[in-house]
Amino acid sequence: MEKLIVNGGKRLFGQIKVDGSKNAFLPIMAASVLCENEVLLSNYVDISDIACMGEILKSIGVEICLNGREMCLNMTGIKNEKITHDLCKKVRASIFLLGALLGKFRKAVIAYPGGCKIGARPIDIHLNGFKTLGVKIVERHGYIYCDGQNMKSGNIILPFPSVGATESLMMCACVLDGTTKIKNAAKEPEIVDLQNFLNKMGAKVSGAGTDTIEIVGVKKLHGGSYCVMADRIVAGTYLLAGAIAGGEIEIVGSDPRHNESLISLLKQTACQISFNNDKIFLKADKRLCSLPNIQTMPYPFFPTDLQPQMMVLQSVSDGTCFLQENVFESRFGLVPELKKMGANIVVNGKVAVINGVQKLYGADVFASDLRAGAALVLAGLVAEGYTTIDNVEYVDRGYEKIEEKYRLLGADIKRI
Ligand code: UD1
Repeated sequence: MEKLIVNGGKRLFGQIKVDGSKNAFLPIMAASVLCENEVLLSNYVDISDIACMGEILKSIGVEICLNGREMCLNMTGIKNEKITHDLCKKVRASIFLLGALLGKFRKAVIAYPGGCKIGARPIDIHLNGFKTLGVKIVERHGYIYCDGQNMKSGNIILPFPSVGATESLMMCACVLDGTTKIKNAAKEPEIVDLQNFLNKMGAKVSGAGTDTIEIVGVKKLHGGSYCVMADRIVAGTYLLAGAIAGGEIEIVGSDPRHNESLISLLKQTACQISFNNDKIFLKADKRLCSLPNIQTMPYPFFPTDLQPQMMVLQSVSDGTCFLQENVFESRFGLVPELKKMGANIVVNGKVAVINGVQKLYGADVFASDLRAGAALVLAGLVAEGYTTIDNVEYVDRGYEKIEEKYRLLGADIKRI
């Protein structure tokens, strides 16, 4: 098991480029299954969740080649195989294959998805959506058997704007006869990116980014090339790194509008922040003030995927913060680890009350999930002395060689 060791206290300076978005790349890889021949995706990022998705696609006959920042998927040998538990348990995004395979073959057998343990993460919204489209579903022995022979377009109202369910249903509906509407759809930028990809391959999808998505079915999707959007959560993590460690950083390559909620919060903390086109500039030269109330909510509000990193900023800010997690039930996994480092946090149900301390101290800590791991690295950057982050493979699920990125900004961090 690899570890990251951070010698804290170095301020961060310089420019950092944001790579492709994990949460856009994964559904687009799955949606490629619907396409004929070849799909060429650029802005590829070398992270383990994408590698796991690649393994799943290979298991059903998709050929995958990597060339620098490009991934080529060749669908000519694709077959409708059962997707096994061994493959699905590694990544939550395996569930996207349900929509893509149903669209392509009108049938799919897939094991329950795995992924980070941040809550119960049921898939009822996905399955009920498919049932509305006429799919017969039997759940047995850990597998979901889906028969879509009589599938037809329809109107689906989601009880909650689930990102994954919206995406999986979009994929399936784009090759069904007639028009499907998804209401109370998720509005995340990654959904707009999926819509753009599908449309580039010949689909007729509109409305992504609003709460109603309309999909006019086409016979099939052709192949082609597509550049996947930059990762707004990685960009947000870098911004928070700058705010926590102090210094002056410029983040390049991601759309600042995708991080509007974070930027507006950071503006209230007394750091300097500005942006134009695809650049965000942040300067923090003193201890920041706490934000009294922060709540996670679906986009366009503050994202749950930045909540642990924000918790670290609040842990070292001046004042008290009530941080409420509304999206996942178990997303305070880093609290005991931050407490080892000297943080003052009390959790009461969905709310963490964080009394900012002057200093965190290095300690041996354990990453309980992807974003908790990324947040502990940020805590290590500002802590006095050495912090060792164990279970770094969680961080590698969503951040490419994170230690190299922070080293470029002047951090003292290495992997052992
Ligand atoms: C996606 C992101 C993840 C992010 C999350 C919320 C990907 C690959 N992952 O995950 O990084 O944290 O959106 O922004 O894009 N729910 C149900 N039943 C369902 C589906 C979801 O109850 O069928 C619940 C979940 O347990 C959770 C909430 O809805 O409490 C949000 O989940 P969802 O939006 O579906 O997140 P994911 O697509 O899993």
